[in-house]
Amino acid sequence: MLAIIGGSGLAQLPVLDVTHRQVVRTPYGDPSCALTFGRLSGQNVVFIARHGYGHSLAPHEINYRANLWALHNQGVKGVIAIGTVGGIRPDMGAGRLVVPHDIIDYSWGRKHTFFEGPERPVVHAEFTSPYDAALRGRLKSALQSTGISGVYDGVYACTQGPRLESAAEVLRLERDGADIVGMTGMPEAALARELELPYAHLCLVSNRAAGKGGNATVQFDAATGAAGVEAVTATLLELLAQS
Ligand code: HPA
Repeated sequence: MLAIIGGSGLAQLPVLDVTHRQVVRTPYGDPSCALTFGRLSGQNVVFIARHGYGHSLAPHEINYRANLWALHNQGVKGVIAIGTVGGIRPDMGAGRLVVPHDIIDYSWGRKHTFFEGPERPVVHAEFTSPYDAALRGRLKSALQSTGISGVYDGVYACTQGPRLESAAEVLRLERDGADIVGMTGMPEAALARELELPYAHLCLVSNRAAGKGGNATVQFDAATGAAGVEAVTATLLELLAQS
């Protein structure tokens, strides 16, 4: 079974043929919301809305550990995480889907590891390639067969938020080598790695990042937003149909 973590704009997955919902408690506290189980393209999946159903949790308020632990506890074999981002690289305009290959983490103050406290001796999780190659390959193949134009590489910068970046901050991210910027990619990816859960990110560009043209805002214009959600949904349906 695959897990899908839905981001802004995807608090629900209307195409999911829901079988049941389950409230899960974890040793790390409560996940963002109940887990939703169902079938997508004939495959079992479990879905969780990262920000909660009513988008009530800001990026720094999300209990990433509880979310990942809850999914892992269901025995999922991998996680497809959906997130919206600002585009830094010129080819990453609003509406573009990106499957990043690497991460730079600028977030702070978040509970970012399972390995703490006297009961859990430290483990230095390997993180050279934060995203799972096989899952990234499946995303690429799904995008290609649906004919949706995606970008199959990119460095994801995770900022703390909830405010957007200044133009100078985005220039710094660019100099560091970042291509897209979001607020929720970490510590999610690292926690998945600590649990040895294959994890890949499907990012939808909602805006050009600050100073990169247009108005930086995490809000889509309505048409781009609807088309983006449709493209993400089509990609997920195809990915599961291919499995
Ligand atoms: N910056 C950070 N996070 C975001 C952005 C952005 O421009 N757009 C969507 N999420």
